[in-house]
Amino acid sequence: MIGLKIKTGIDKMKINNKLLNKYNRKGPRYTSYPPATHFSEKYNDKSFIKSVTLSNDEKPENVSVYIHIPFCPQICHFCGCTTESGFTKPFLERYVDALIKEIEFVSKLIDKNRKLTQIHWGGGTPNAISLKYIKRITHKILQCFNLNEEYEMAIECSPAHLDYKHIELLKSYGFNRISLGIQDFKDEVLDAINRRRPKHPIDKIIDKIHNEGFTGTNIDLVYGLPLQTVEGFNETIDKAISLNTDRIVTFSYAHVPSILPRQKILENIGFPSSHEKAEMYNNAFKKFTEAGYVPIGMDHFCRPDDEFYLALKNNQLHRNFQGYCTTKTTGQVYGFGASSISQLFSAYSQNVKNAAQYIKKINDNNTAVLRGYNLTQNEKIIRDVINSIMCNYFVDFHEIAERFETNSYKIKEVIAFDKEKFKDFIDLNFMKIENDKITISHDARLYIRNIAMEFDPLMDTKIGTYSKTI
Ligand SMILES: C[S@@+](CC[C@H](N)C(=O)[O-])C[C@H]1O[C@@H](n2cnc3c(N)ncnc32)[C@H](O)[C@@H]1O
Ligand code: SF4
Repeated sequence: MIGLKIKTGIDKMKINNKLLNKYNRKGPRYTSYPPATHFSEKYNDKSFIKSVTLSNDEKPENVSVYIHIPFCPQICHFCGCTTESGFTKPFLERYVDALIKEIEFVSKLIDKNRKLTQIHWGGGTPNAISLKYIKRITHKILQCFNLNEEYEMAIECSPAHLDYKHIELLKSYGFNRISLGIQDFKDEVLDAINRRRPKHPIDKIIDKIHNEGFTGTNIDLVYGLPLQTVEGFNETIDKAISLNTDRIVTFSYAHVPSILPRQKILENIGFPSSHEKAEMYNNAFKKFTEAGYVPIGMDHFCRPDDEFYLALKNNQLHRNFQGYCTTKTTGQVYGFGASSISQLFSAYSQNVKNAAQYIKKINDNNTAVLRGYNLTQNEKIIRDVINSIMCNYFVDFHEIAERFETNSYKIKEVIAFDKEKFKDFIDLNFMKIENDKITISHDARLYIRNIAMEFDPLMDTKIGTYSKTI
């Protein structure tokens, strides 16, 4: 593969321990703004119906659908997702029936002229349920929405439950992207986190996905897990490169045992230090970029001809609960299933997390809202600024002001802009502030959440609920 030169200064960059110690503190990952910890239970089913109706006249016009399957045959101790084990076939059938009912009800509120450009299945482990349910739900979605000619239909799969036949069936239902959760290739790391090993060799799985004609393949890695070492993770990175997928994600392990008690058990084994974590991330960055991948935001890597990179070059990359995205493919997101989050221009709405409660609420009400948030105009501005920082490493206050029909003074006032807050990063040449523009270098990528936090007036609240930034 021909390497694309990314100017990073990485070879001369040593991990700055002073900076690491100062900035490795708790903070949001900014998959939404405001973060989900601010969602309120005052936002209810009625508010959601109002938000969906309003969303028809807002941008982006296109529709994304998110389907949450909250089931896993075995729960990995590191996992931050909403998932349950021990489900029975009759329970699963009731869950699928409820999902279908929710899709029928909510889709009726959505303008049929709007095009469905993306369907994303996440979990839990969607591929751990019988594929006949996936077929049934997909069929219902295609009945209820107006599918765009160009679309993305993606599914998160665990290789512990993925058969070659599943890949063929998914293709026949219209899926064109598969995301595989790898986390690490080392068996001892998988065992330490209580994760089942892959059913088939990963390279054979990837070959099958490529041969079936999927246009997109993604793998997820996580660094900072128990028993991971810098050397061992280097081998995992090399193996990931050899698989030749079009996207690779390297998540920083988010440890929040106060919210996810199952993670507490991992403390008995222990974690790599923050210095080792930073080294793992820097090595991944170096190896992936040398192999021809380009960095996208904090943790994604893709090919230079990927729509992500094209969006990044035009400062049009976005971010949501499913990861990085572009408005060409990802519209306002309508979430279905337990714990799913609808991500609309003016509101967020999250369903109840427990699957049994979800089924009951849908059967009683057609909707199952737990909590949500209506954004003010100022919060939309802050969201735009933080999104631009997290995704594009660049902000143009003038451009944002134009989008909100105001001026850049107002934008700076809303985010309480103060150059002094960024002194450390400016002194290190990590950040340049000129007139109305902020440019952040890739050398600051470990600290991008810290930089974003400085634009967030809500930052000092709910701090205990976040993971550390590095
Ligand atoms: C729904 S899971 C993936 C699908 C499938 N269940 C699997 O495990 O392969 C989505 C991804 O989130 C990431 N993830 C889960 N918990 C995490 C945590 N605590 N910190 C960082 N990343 C995490 C993992 O990389 C995982 O692959
Ligand atoms: S990482 Fe995947 S398989 Fe493991 S518990 Fe989480 S969702 Fe389930």
